[in-house]
Amino acid sequence: MEDDRLLNSITIRPMQESDIDAAFAIESQSYSLPWSAKSFRYELTQSPASRLFAAVDDHNEILGYIATWLIEDELHINNIAVSPPHRRRHIAAALLEHVLAGARHASAKIATLEVRRSNEAAIALYLGQGFLQTGLRPVYYQDPTDDALILSKSLIELDNNGRRRL
Ligand SMILES: CC(C)(COP(=O)(O)OP(=O)(O)OC[C@H]1O[C@@H](n2cnc3c(N)ncnc32)[C@H](O)[C@@H]1OP(=O)(O)O)[C@@H](O)C(=O)NCCC(=O)NCCS
Repeated sequence: MEDDRLLNSITIRPMQESDIDAAFAIESQSYSLPWSAKSFRYELTQSPASRLFAAVDDHNEILGYIATWLIEDELHINNIAVSPPHRRRHIAAALLEHVLAGARHASAKIATLEVRRSNEAAIALYLGQGFLQTGLRPVYYQDPTDDALILSKSLIELDNNGRRRL
C-alpha cells in the first residue's frame, strides 16, 4: 500500500476469536444496530464461506476489520468498520484492497455489497475502489429507516484490448 497516511506498522491479518472483544467495541461505535459478539464468533467459527480480516498496529491492537463471504464466484462484503480515531488513514481502503485481491486470486468474478443510501463516507470509499451502483433495495435498513444501494465491482481483469486476462 503506497500511502503516507497508512503507517507502515499497520498489518492486515486474518481475524481471530481473541479479536472479538476489540472488534465488537469498534462495531458498537460504528452502527446503530451493531453485530453482537456472538455474530462475530459465528462468522469466525461456524460459517465456512466467511473470510474476516483485521487491520492491526504494531501492538496488535485492532484498528479496523472487514467481514466477507466468498461463495462460488462472488465476494460479498458484509461489514467493514474502522475505529473512529483512526479513520481517514486509508485503513478501510487497505482492508478492501486486501479482500478484493484475495477474491481475485480465488477466481471470484464479482464483489457485491449493500450500503445505506445516507452513508456518504462508505459510498465514497466504495466508489473510490471502483464499485458501481447496480441496484436498490427500498427501506432495507431500520433505525433509522433507509434504502440500501447495491454496489458491485467486476473482478475480471481485462487487457488493453478489453480481453479477459488469463
Ligand atoms: C466507512 C469507513 C469504514 C471508512 O473507513 P476509513 O478507514 O476512514 O476510510 P479510508 O481512510 O480508507 O477512506 C478511503 C476513501 O474513502 C472516502 N472516505 C472515507 N471516509 C470519508 C468521509 N467521512 N467523507 C468523505 N469521504 C470519505 C475518501 O475518498 C477516502 O479517501 P481520501 O481520504 O484520500 O479522501 C468508516 O468511516 C467507518 O468505520 N464507518 C462506520 C461503519 C460503516 O459505515 N461501514 C460501512 C458499512 S457499508
